[in-house]
Amino acid sequence: MLNIITGGAGFVSFNLAKCLLDRGDELLLIDNLSRGRLEYVEALVDYARTIGNSQKVLFEKADISDVAQLKFALSSIDRDDVEVWHLCANSDIPAGVEDASVDLRDTFLVTYNLLNEMKAKGWKKLHFSSTSAVYGDHGVEYLTEESRTEPISNYGAMKLASEAAIRAACEAFLDQVNVFRFPNVVGVPATHGVILDFIHKLKKDSTVLHVLGNGTQCKAYLHVSELIEAMLWIRDKDFKGYHVYNIGPEDLGVTVKNIAEAVRDYVSPSAHIAFGSGNRGWVGDVPRFSYKVDKLSQIGWTAKYSSTDAIRRAVNEISTQENGQ
Ligand SMILES: NC(=O)c1ccc[n+]([C@@H]2O[C@H](COP(=O)([O-])OP(=O)(O)OC[C@H]3O[C@@H](n4cnc5c(N)ncnc54)[C@H](O)[C@@H]3O)[C@@H](O)[C@H]2O)c1
Repeated sequence: MLNIITGGAGFVSFNLAKCLLDRGDELLLIDNLSRGRLEYVEALVDYARTIGNSQKVLFEKADISDVAQLKFALSSIDRDDVEVWHLCANSDIPAGVEDASVDLRDTFLVTYNLLNEMKAKGWKKLHFSSTSAVYGDHGVEYLTEESRTEPISNYGAMKLASEAAIRAACEAFLDQVNVFRFPNVVGVPATHGVILDFIHKLKKDSTVLHVLGNGTQCKAYLHVSELIEAMLWIRDKDFKGYHVYNIGPEDLGVTVKNIAEAVRDYVSPSAHIAFGSGNRGWVGDVPRFSYKVDKLSQIGWTAKYSSTDAIRRAVNEISTQENGQ
């Protein structure tokens, strides 16, 4: 089995790739290294060697929004036992608010191009990393897969457009599609996100931590190890057709204030936390969300860790990563 992972040098991909290698699968990782890091790919090659799978990791540097580069990256693959994990996207949400073309290119066009290549190659299985951002701002309501999708960021809009294009492709040529709506995901190797931002800020100035917004934003968080467990759990059900799953803990989430305090206590306990104003970190930020995950629990998977547990564990891991240990 060959697993193609787009955005294969990124954070979630690294953790997914490791688990797929443990299962003995082969991997083709494709990434333009805009945010992903070659050292993660090298670490995966080393890992494959240590578990006796040294021939099993291929890497192609390619911009998937560029058809010619994508075609070239896939040109050597001439086999049918292929599953595609489509994880590449713009992960800098404020950048997409500033310039809508960022998400058009790195979140939607990549999906559109990938679907065309899958059609040409006759590949029929796709797993897609979508997001809670497709729902938009529903206040305190628990979100189910049936909740209204009214994104308030370009990132969320282009993820929703990607879901729609994938749904249409499922009617035409794909046989098996899983759409995973991720919550906020934390862990290592961290490439972005609130914990990493706070650590970087405290490294620049250990006396004060400036927080975007008033700290009351409250969202569900999942540790990446549990996210991958859930993705593989759904994949192993081998469902035919098109399926959408919220993946996350079923709790009300953690506030940004709690996260700031957890990072401050770990990194620089005497630092003062300075909050901004308003309950959004940036335009398009959804101030609160939590998931109803009944659909996932009905097929036998529930998160063991709460949002608070996931944050606590990730603060420890990301601090260690940033200290180069
Ligand atoms: N981490 C989270 O909290 C979270 C939450 C919801 C959804 N997601 C989704 O999960 C997926 C993985 O996210 P992540 O946190 O690992 O982010 P990440 O930035 O670490 O990984 C994304 C990868 O895509 C690559 N990429 C971007 N544009 C590309 C292009 N045009 N061509 C080729 N490669 C390109 C980047 O270099 C990066 O390595 C993304 O689709 C993201 O939208 C993540």
